[in-house]
Amino acid sequence: MTTYVADLLSDTLTRPTRAMREAMASAEVGDDVFGEDPTVRALEQRVAGLLGHEDGLFTPTGSLANQLGMRLHVGPGQEVVADQNAHVVRAELGAAAVFSGITSRTWPSVRGRLEPSGPMSLVTTGVGPYQVETALVVVENTHNFGGGTVQPLDAIREVRAATSAVGVGMHLDGARLWNAHVASGVSLADYGREFDTVSVCLSKGLGAPVGSVLVGSSARMAEARVWRKRYGAGMRQVGILAAAGLHALDHHVERLADDHARAARFAAACAEAAPGSVDAATVETNIVVLDVGAAGWTSAAFVAALLERGVRTYAVGPAAVRLVWHLDVDDAGTHAAVDAATAVLRTPA
Ligand SMILES: Cc1ncc(COP(=O)(O)O)c(C=O)c1O
Repeated sequence: MTTYVADLLSDTLTRPTRAMREAMASAEVGDDVFGEDPTVRALEQRVAGLLGHEDGLFTPTGSLANQLGMRLHVGPGQEVVADQNAHVVRAELGAAAVFSGITSRTWPSVRGRLEPSGPMSLVTTGVGPYQVETALVVVENTHNFGGGTVQPLDAIREVRAATSAVGVGMHLDGARLWNAHVASGVSLADYGREFDTVSVCLSKGLGAPVGSVLVGSSARMAEARVWRKRYGAGMRQVGILAAAGLHALDHHVERLADDHARAARFAAACAEAAPGSVDAATVETNIVVLDVGAAGWTSAAFVAALLERGVRTYAVGPAAVRLVWHLDVDDAGTHAAVDAATAVLRTPA
């Protein structure tokens, strides 16, 4: 396995800590397909409670939690509307269309930030047999490809009021809702209550090896349980994985503030080294997207130059490079990343 001085490719890279592994090893388990795994049930109920919903469903991935959430609301041939760079439309490989016959339309945005006019300009209802009926709005918080953008609660509430009035549902892709909560101080329940269903990931900044939870009403979760099994994701003694999630909730939520501070420090240094490469004021959580074109670099060349210095990053566009802070990047790693990135940005490409 290659080791890096700072591995900023993704916050999914985290490895379970010793304490997390001990919690996993001592978890009480049962057959979860029969609803007999007490640790899974504890996790599902805890996450549902945190998000202000009745019940939860453990899934192996965030993608599956999103796909289940979408199909609960949207019939074949109906549509989902989402941000143009939403994970559900760009990074789930067309699953909503393939598995559920769902069509989609997208609204443009700046850094993924939700403006109520985005979804509301698309939502279409009561159009008889002539146009596609909108059944669901999906909001992503924080917005991954937008650079960890925190969605404003006021904007969410405005969209909620408008969609409720026309009978359209709301699903939250909250893969990094923990980061939004820590950065904004808005409670998880205040975010969660504005949506019919919410998916959250335990395997990103929280450091669990696997796992997401979908929450919603008890009736919706019962239906999602059937579809999870139908998709082949009914799991057995997975309390060992749920235990990692419970441990993460106990120990790894508040510390996300450290990741945010390190990302902000990195962004400020890059903004100074190469004006235009990033607006440090827009770095709200653990993700930084650099415009390396501002310093004359292509993303591929920049990623390669950083890799030579032991820093792994990810090209997300021809001149855009993403760096993500997480549990396994400390102050020393952040220093190394600052040194490498600022040196490369100052060097003519
Ligand atoms: C915003 C967002 N939603 C959903 C997912 C899907 O999670 P998973 O990789 O567990 O399927 C990701 C993964 O990176 C994500 O960034």
